[in-house]
Amino acid sequence: MIDIVELNKYYGDHHVLKNINLHIDPGEVVVIIGPSGSGKSTLLRCINYLEEYQHGYVTIGGENIGRQEIGGKSVPMPEKKLNKMRQKVGMVFQSFNLFYNKTVCQNITMAPMDLKSMKKSEAKEKSLSLLEMVGLKDKCDVMPARLSGGQKQRVAIARALAMDPEIMLFDEPTSALDPEMVGEVLKVMKDLANSGMTMVIVTHEMNFARTIADKIVVLEDGSIIESGSPEQVFEHPQTERTRAFVNTVFNRDKIA
Ligand SMILES: Nc1ncnc2c1ncn2[C@@H]1O[C@H](COP(=O)(O)OP(=O)(O)O)[C@@H](O)[C@H]1O
Ligand SMILES: [Mg+2]
Repeated sequence: MIDIVELNKYYGDHHVLKNINLHIDPGEVVVIIGPSGSGKSTLLRCINYLEEYQHGYVTIGGENIGRQEIGGKSVPMPEKKLNKMRQKVGMVFQSFNLFYNKTVCQNITMAPMDLKSMKKSEAKEKSLSLLEMVGLKDKCDVMPARLSGGQKQRVAIARALAMDPEIMLFDEPTSALDPEMVGEVLKVMKDLANSGMTMVIVTHEMNFARTIADKIVVLEDGSIIESGSPEQVFEHPQTERTRAFVNTVFNRDKIA
């Protein structure tokens, strides 16, 4: 479903992603963990080419995204083609990124109407069924500012799903939430995983990661230092650095 091959990214002289290779199967749930600044967000953003990179490539469903080969040379792909590819990928951010001057349903119907020429009635119907799925059926006409953080994030998930993505990316979706609202968002994500969605998730919620992930990827200083099943990574880490990181995060959970 997703192939990341020899991906290298620099910000100026700063080598932020170092030869990343990652293969993600359809329906697989991959959780990326690692210290702050290790490159998790950058890696996620490279998947749908929100970030350019200097070397390597990413394919989605076998097709290159962002760059393409022409006459043996790698060149940026036309905007139109890139946008089409991006529609396969839904993204959810820590900060929700809702449109605050639009109602919940308008937030959800906008992209399908604009980008897929979906009829208003159909888009509305779809938004209602998505809202039901995330437990917010009665919030269609509400302005986002009236919602709690957990509700906002569930709207953001519904909005991403409205485009029928093949893949969903989540960048610390619960990090901005009050603790009592984390569970409701994780539950929606768990349902989504159970429905067979391919998901790449950056999170510090280790217990959630342990139950939802098919594969855990540990990123440190721009490199994948370890990857494997939750059991492998959490119970039998191969590197001392993984062990140290996992211990810190689990212990912080215990103290909190
Ligand atoms: N727009 C940017 N310009 C320059 N450096 C950046 C930019 N975005 C991120 N970085 C740097 O790239 C590294 C990886 O950042 P990021 O992917 O946000 O890490 P993480 O999500 O794991 O905390 C960090 O050292 C960060 O300071
Ligand atoms: Mg980040």
